[in-house]
Amino acid sequence: MSDEKTPGATVWLTGLPSAGKTTLANELAGRLRAEGRRTEVLDGDEIREFLSAGLGFSREDRHTNVQRIGFVAELLARNGVLVLVPVIAPFADSREAVRKRHQSQGTGYLEIHVATPVEVCSVRDVKGLYAKQAAGEISGLTGVDDPYEAPVSPDLRIASHTQSVPESAADLYALLTERGLA
Ligand SMILES: Nc1ncnc2c1ncn2[C@@H]1O[C@H](COP(=O)(O)OP(=O)(O)OP(=O)(O)O)[C@@H](O)[C@H]1O
Ligand SMILES: [Mg+2]
Repeated sequence: MSDEKTPGATVWLTGLPSAGKTTLANELAGRLRAEGRRTEVLDGDEIREFLSAGLGFSREDRHTNVQRIGFVAELLARNGVLVLVPVIAPFADSREAVRKRHQSQGTGYLEIHVATPVEVCSVRDVKGLYAKQAAGEISGLTGVDDPYEAPVSPDLRIASHTQSVPESAADLYALLTERGLA
C-alpha cells in the first residue's frame, strides 16, 4: 500500500513494437492511481509529438529521444512520482546512460524487458508497422530491419505472449512491492 512516504522511481519498459509496453504501463498506472499513488506514464508516441518533436529514427535520434525521456523521468521520480516509461529504447548504451543518471541522483530505476518475440509482435501488429515494413512502405523497424539490443539482466522479464494483461501487470506490481515502491 503506497503513501506519501513511498519513494518515486522510474520503471522503464523496453521491448519490440507491439510487445505490450503501453498496455502494461496503463494497466499498472490505473492500479497505482486507484491506490492514491502519484503516477505518470511517459509514452513514446506522445513524447515524440512534443518533447522530441523533430527527432527521427536514426541511431543518434533514438538515443537523444531516450536521454530526454530519461531526464524528465528522473526529475519526476526524484519528486516522489512513480514514472512508467513504455518506450522501445533499442540500444543498451542509451538505457545504461539513463540508469547511470538515476544512480548518480540516488533515484530508483528499474528496467523491465517486455520480452514478446518478434513472431508474436508481428501478428499483434497494433499499429500496422510490421505489415508496412513487409510491404516495403517503411524501413528501419526495430527488431526487423533495425537493431534491438535486448537487456542482458533486466530487473524483470515479462513473457507477455504466455500471460494475460492482468497477470503480467501483477508480476510487475509484485516487483514494485518487493522493492518498496508500491
Ligand atoms: N500479457 C500481455 N501484456 C501486454 N499486452 C498484451 C498481453 N497479452 C496480449 N497483449 C496485447 O498486446 C498488444 C500490445 O500493444 P501495445 O500497444 O501495448 O504495445 P507496445 O509495446 O506499446 O508497442 P509500441 O512500441 O508500438 O508502442 C495489445 O493489443 C495487448 O492487448
Ligand atoms: Mg506503445
